[in-house]
Amino acid sequence: MYQDIKLDEIDINLNPPTEEPGRQYYFMAKCRERTRVFERERGRLPKACVVNMGCQMNARDSEKLLGILREAGYEASEEEQADFVIYNTCTVRDNANQKVYGRLGVLNGHKKRNPGMRIALCGCMTQEPSALKKIRQSYPFVDLIFGTHNIYKFAELLDAMYESRGTVVDIWEEADRIVEDLPLERKYAFKSGINIMFGCNNFCSYCIVPNVRGRERSREPGDILREMEGLVSEGVTEIMLLGQNVNSYGKTLEEPMSFAQLLREAEGIEGLRRIRFMTSHPKDLSEELIEVMKGSSKICRHLHLPLQSGSTRILEAMNRRYTKEQYVELALRIRREIPDIAITTDIIVGFPGETEADVEETLDVIRRVKFDNAFTFVYSKRTGTPAAKMEQVPKEQVKVWFDRVLRLVQETARERALLCRGQVSEALVEEVNENDPSMVTGRLSNNLLVHFPGDEELIGKLVSVSLDECHGFYYIGHRA
Ligand code: 5AD
Ligand code: SF4
Repeated sequence: MYQDIKLDEIDINLNPPTEEPGRQYYFMAKCRERTRVFERERGRLPKACVVNMGCQMNARDSEKLLGILREAGYEASEEEQADFVIYNTCTVRDNANQKVYGRLGVLNGHKKRNPGMRIALCGCMTQEPSALKKIRQSYPFVDLIFGTHNIYKFAELLDAMYESRGTVVDIWEEADRIVEDLPLERKYAFKSGINIMFGCNNFCSYCIVPNVRGRERSREPGDILREMEGLVSEGVTEIMLLGQNVNSYGKTLEEPMSFAQLLREAEGIEGLRRIRFMTSHPKDLSEELIEVMKGSSKICRHLHLPLQSGSTRILEAMNRRYTKEQYVELALRIRREIPDIAITTDIIVGFPGETEADVEETLDVIRRVKFDNAFTFVYSKRTGTPAAKMEQVPKEQVKVWFDRVLRLVQETARERALLCRGQVSEALVEEVNENDPSMVTGRLSNNLLVHFPGDEELIGKLVSVSLDECHGFYYIGHRA
């Protein structure tokens, strides 16, 4: 395990080893030497800031970046004060890219005041050739750019950046391996996400993810379970298993294993109290998974099941490989089998060729399934995806439809949340309430939030809470 590796015992005057992760520890040691020099000269440690701009997978990657920076001797800080800033980018919708361009402009101002500052970009956006070209042309003050497949080499790239005069760029088209046992710094002490797979093989026609995250690769179950046990021994009680499509977990392993089987094994980990997972593709959700969830006392009563569209015609154009009726039938079956489960979803409005009648179909699914929550997105054209070449829908029209969809999902979410009123439920306390320090915020198994009187001492604990007042998407309660 990495905890056993002592950086100070690594001789950085020797050549770097070729095997991983040893090679990266060598470069961490080398970077640490550099931060020591910085400290001697400046009388303080260098400061670093990791900005996460994407999904839970990105957030997990950011923890890896932070872990390596910590080993290299950096102190965490805000962006404005940092000597090293790294943006872990997202590119699923174009507004994510626009945000990066905007923030880079501001960051350049900081760099002018602190010329020793270094700026790095990594994550999904850098894997996109057109975005990479734009960054290189218009933002020459960026010092390091790398992608999603070589993030395990961050220590080595950080060192290369300090050794180099120009921008260091290292983007790989695909992953060569999964490197285990690198350090990481967790955001929360009591809950954690862990990757069970990388990439995606689905090729939904609107989605850039398969282009930037590559083909699907599953981690070995032994590695996953070992990491989970390690987390539990450090005090983690809730673990979220992460993948673009967790329901196809294990298909590419030498000894194939289903996601449901992995969950069964995870259930057996002593001391682990809650298991969550994200994201499920409806076409791959098995009977076995429903059975495992039904019989489990640890798997949370929440399923995120992206619908994308309620129109079979649009679903086909999206290459989702299920029909409207198949989706509704699946969702209602899950509701029947596991009555207290919350089903949440993603919906895209304005996919090429969408008509009023298609939007009506989506509204019909929302009414029938009654989602507990939904993320609604305006379709965003992504260069390099098949949908980008299809006939686009006028923006003004999309706006009208979007508002209708949003209003209806808010209605069903409120209706669903109300069903819990008066119940006593277990909440995992996550933080002291930002607006009212006499209250804490906890998360229920079904993902609803509840605010109730309490203090810092409760953070990370599972407590019984009575759900008194429903405020749409959250509850006010008291300890039962
Ligand atoms: N435009 C809008 N939304 C998108 N999503 C993925 N690609 C696009 C796109 N091009 C949404 C999907 C997915 C979620 C993570 O982002 O709903 O489930
Ligand atoms: Fe995109 Fe589909 Fe993969 Fe989800 S499953 S990331 S929507 S390609």
